Amino acid sequence: MIINKEFSVIVTGGASGLGEACVRKLTGLGAKVAIFDLNKAAGEKVAYETGAAFIECNIADEASVDNAFAQARKINGQERALINCAGIVKGIKTASRDKETAEIKHFPLEVFAQVININLIGTFRMIAKSAAGMMALDTIDGERGIIINTASIAAFDGQIGQAAYAASKAGVAGLSLPVARDLAGECIRINAICPGIFNTPMMASLPQNVQDSLGASVPFPKRLGKGAEFASLACHIIENQYLNGENIRLDGAIRLGMK
Ligand SMILES: NC(=O)c1ccc[n+]([C@@H]2O[C@H](COP(=O)([O-])OP(=O)(O)OC[C@H]3O[C@@H](n4cnc5c(N)ncnc54)[C@H](O)[C@@H]3O)[C@@H](O)[C@H]2O)c1
Repeated sequence: MIINKEFSVIVTGGASGLGEACVRKLTGLGAKVAIFDLNKAAGEKVAYETGAAFIECNIADEASVDNAFAQARKINGQERALINCAGIVKGIKTASRDKETAEIKHFPLEVFAQVININLIGTFRMIAKSAAGMMALDTIDGERGIIINTASIAAFDGQIGQAAYAASKAGVAGLSLPVARDLAGECIRINAICPGIFNTPMMASLPQNVQDSLGASVPFPKRLGKGAEFASLACHIIENQYLNGENIRLDGAIRLGMK
């Protein structure tokens, strides 16, 4: 698929981090971009700076998503591409003992459900509704559309405290092949990017020494990944028609340890 000024794309989580990097790259290539994000202030700022459209949207809410698709399609036409970057992370152990009080606690199930609801079900809601819309499009060079999800290397090497997050991302990775098969007859592709450790606001909340030591633990290059590197892979996936049903690690060869 060629990225040009006719190319309409929706980026969830486009107000920050990896999604924002995609918005900047795609608008730079002339694409018509709609940002779906909960964060209105950040989303409007990115939209103002890039010429993208910002639409306030909670991917975990059916009505909010339906409304956002209707608005985006009114502004930019039916999207040819969907890039799912919206997500949250929570670090809590499955069961733990407080070092000082010896109190025993377990992972709150409502938090587990929240992570799955946003990262996995929210992503699938976007996929299903976008694919249904793409099916009305004519093919260009034999294809109708392309979907890109953001999983994580935590899908494979989940760390201490990541039971919910890793399960949600393993779910996203698990979608790639069956959804590619579901949509193959409609000429719609799907792939997931599995980022390692990237320098985004999600990471910037960690102390600098922790960020430095995370960067140093990457085999090569010895640093955190850049949003632009994620966006560059997203564009390659859009352009390379033979890439389908795959989970692609983008991680400088890191394999996460226990913590
Ligand atoms: N940064 C990393 O190292 C890293 C590594 C692996 C995977 N990821 C994944 O990449 C994606 C982007 O992460 P990031 O680091 O850019 O994070 P980020 O926090 O900078 O951006 C996430 C964006 O998603 C939005 N969002 C959250 N919940 C939402 C909802 N329910 N509806 C709509 N928008 C919502 C937030 O408002 C935010 O703008 C996430 O799915 C994350 O799990 C990040």
